[in-house]
Amino acid sequence: MANQEEIKKVELQFNQEIEKIGQESDLEQLRIKYLGRKGLLTMMLRSLKDMPLEQRKVIGPMANKLKETFEHHLQIKKEELKAGGEIKQSIDVTRPGKKINLGHLHPLSIVLRQVVDIFNGLGFAVAEGPEIETEYYNFDALNLPAEHPARDMWNTIWLDGSKSQNQKERLLLRTHTSPVQIRYMQSHKPPVRIISPGQVFRFEATDQTHHFQFWQLEGLMIDEDINLGHLRYIIEAFLSRFFGRKIQSRFEPSFFPFVEPGLQFSISCPFCKSKGCSSCQKLGWLEMGGAGMVHPQVLRNVGYDPKKFQGFAFGLGLDRLAMHKYHIPDIRLFYNGDLRFIRQFKL
Ligand code: DAH
Repeated sequence: MANQEEIKKVELQFNQEIEKIGQESDLEQLRIKYLGRKGLLTMMLRSLKDMPLEQRKVIGPMANKLKETFEHHLQIKKEELKAGGEIKQSIDVTRPGKKINLGHLHPLSIVLRQVVDIFNGLGFAVAEGPEIETEYYNFDALNLPAEHPARDMWNTIWLDGSKSQNQKERLLLRTHTSPVQIRYMQSHKPPVRIISPGQVFRFEATDQTHHFQFWQLEGLMIDEDINLGHLRYIIEAFLSRFFGRKIQSRFEPSFFPFVEPGLQFSISCPFCKSKGCSSCQKLGWLEMGGAGMVHPQVLRNVGYDPKKFQGFAFGLGLDRLAMHKYHIPDIRLFYNGDLRFIRQFKL
């Protein structure tokens, strides 16, 4: 006849045995051993009826509780075996692994990250602006009023329906990243030290070196006593770090309505030390972009006092930078989604 000790012994025994089981068929054997018609626990339960009442009151609930516990454990073990068992059987640890095809960065993204890193190191923050711009930010605020002939420098993609709207609110795809200068200065007080990388759009035919959509990098530094020497230092520091060798810059007069004086700048060819090679078309110099001292009218447009603050701005093409760095002969390769091209940049 069952007593408390015996019940505990059965429980212990059951727990040890179930632990070792690795197959569903063995589990069924275990169930029969304890809960089958002639099972150990079943027999105990059956013997309850012959017990004196006092003893039955104690042993009865214990044995019944144990039956529930066994059933519960058996169920859980069964599920475990189902899930784990299948995996165990299907894994062949000696089989060579399958290579997972991981994605990687586009060459323009690689360059973008390098550029941002370098400028962060020089103390410049990143500012962004919308790709759909208003006429005001893209032109007027940059000292390019309506009918100004210099607007022709940017072949603008106007957005549908925009002609009928209030002139300053007319929408376009930004033709350059310079409007971010305005947006940033409107919402921040000097000193300013930002770069603004972003996509720009032009109504132009495409060829090897032109695309209707490309990436620009805008730079802006405003403070008291900023001069062109600072511009030159930043340009040379940035490009020397980018190309990993000492770079010299060359500035020539140019015209952009939002700077005075306006400049365009080139850098010594990083590949031939200005001796002339195929990268620089034997010129020894690579054309980089436009720059200048921010026009006092632009500063006034954003509420800055041009007598107190001045600074430089520059803009250059990120695609061109990437083309030089990786010797890519055609800008269209960046945008046509040809995987044979893109995969070469897997690091
Ligand atoms: N926004 C000009 C362009 O797209 C480039 C440029 C020139 C930017 C001179 C500047 C600058 O900030 O000072 O052609």
